[in-house]
Amino acid sequence: MLSIGVLVSGRGTNLQSIIDAIEGERLDASIKVVISNKADAPAIDRAGEHGIPVEVVTTEGFASRQAFDERLTGVLKSYGVELVVLAGFMRILSPGFIKAFPMRIINIHPALLPSFPGLDVQKKAIDYGVKLSGCTVHFVSEEVDTGPIILQTAVPVLDDDTPESLAQRILKEEHRIYPEAIRLFSEGKLEVKGRRVLIKK
Ligand code: GRF
Repeated sequence: MLSIGVLVSGRGTNLQSIIDAIEGERLDASIKVVISNKADAPAIDRAGEHGIPVEVVTTEGFASRQAFDERLTGVLKSYGVELVVLAGFMRILSPGFIKAFPMRIINIHPALLPSFPGLDVQKKAIDYGVKLSGCTVHFVSEEVDTGPIILQTAVPVLDDDTPESLAQRILKEEHRIYPEAIRLFSEGKLEVKGRRVLIKK
């Protein structure tokens, strides 16, 4: 069974979708640890309610990004984590961290990459005037929001959308495709060829 570690900073609805998929036996994996860099993240309570160990690792007391990331690596390794799942983790990870888990860190982004990387992307999509947006699950590489794409789903952008209403429509799809991507990884079905991720039958 795949051992995963989930990194969070906020409300944790994607974490919840992974917990639900495991408890609903749609995903054969075990969340060994949830790590939050924010002491008051609501995601912490979600983990606690399901008996998942939580480690709060704030940036306080760390002299550098590298030192903080080394601590994260140490915690993840101590729990035997094989796949690192970023679920609303609001920090950029250093190259050293990414090298510690090669092709073993995944992220979900609320836009159709490579369109709209970065933050506030639902507003950016509306302001740009795109008719479709969506979400992307991808492997994490050293540059933000650029790693090989595992799964994407599109949703319409409606004339009366606000960033919040669009975010809500996208989030519903996130909760569906993130556990699905983890399942494909756990079953060894993802084959990375350069930028392409082929999904084995
Ligand atoms: C999601 O929209 C995700 O795509 C982005 O951050 C948000 C996290 O939401 N990376 P939650 O904490 O999982 O509810």
